[in-house]
Amino acid sequence: MLTPDDRTRRRFQRRLLAWYAKHGRDLPWRRTRDPYRVLVSEIMLQQTQVERVIPKYHQFLQRYPTIDSLAAARVGEVRRLWYPLGYNIRPIRLHRIARETVARYHGCLPDSAERLRALPGIGPYTAGAILAFAHGRNAAVLDTNVRRVFTRVFLGPRRALRVRGDKAFWDLAGALVPRGRAYDFNQALMDFGATWCTPRRPRCPRCPMKSFCASYPFDARSHGRP
Ligand code: ADE
Repeated sequence: MLTPDDRTRRRFQRRLLAWYAKHGRDLPWRRTRDPYRVLVSEIMLQQTQVERVIPKYHQFLQRYPTIDSLAAARVGEVRRLWYPLGYNIRPIRLHRIARETVARYHGCLPDSAERLRALPGIGPYTAGAILAFAHGRNAAVLDTNVRRVFTRVFLGPRRALRVRGDKAFWDLAGALVPRGRAYDFNQALMDFGATWCTPRRPRCPRCPMKSFCASYPFDARSHGRP
């Protein structure tokens, strides 16, 4: 377990939320709590950058405004609409999720991790995102950006090499989520990783975590990864 002491944990939570209030992005899927819309956005965002997802998100929801309308569509048509985001498995999975949700849950995406994970193509990340962003649960999320932030802030360049697998990171993510603030905290983590604590040129001089970050100051030559 990588969990920091209470003081550092609280400091990280407080500073991240304050950072988000100032620098968080106004993204269309943050203006809804509709589980279907959250699902569509998170599946689109899995392998595609925010800027490319935004227009497709609107277009997709205009064509398929509800999970029932998606379930009723032909998969070939869904794939064609999706195509500019990449010719891949994601639209097929999303379509199957829609059909199963309609068949098994009357079109309501479940609010339990086990049931979500039993749907085709929903892994731990997407389940956590739906729980936190649509159902208001204190669930954690972990993607490559979040993992990089945790690695830098809590481990530092050398110790990071010794952590294998994701279990320790999921435990850390779960321990860091402030009760009742999972929505903002998780969205903040993603923005912080995507725009501030970036892979190559993080904005260390203006970083709110620098006083306790295990990697500060970042040295691109000695640990360009992660
Ligand atoms: N990447 C994955 N999920 C995201 C979200 N909700 N906001 C911004 N980027 C993301």
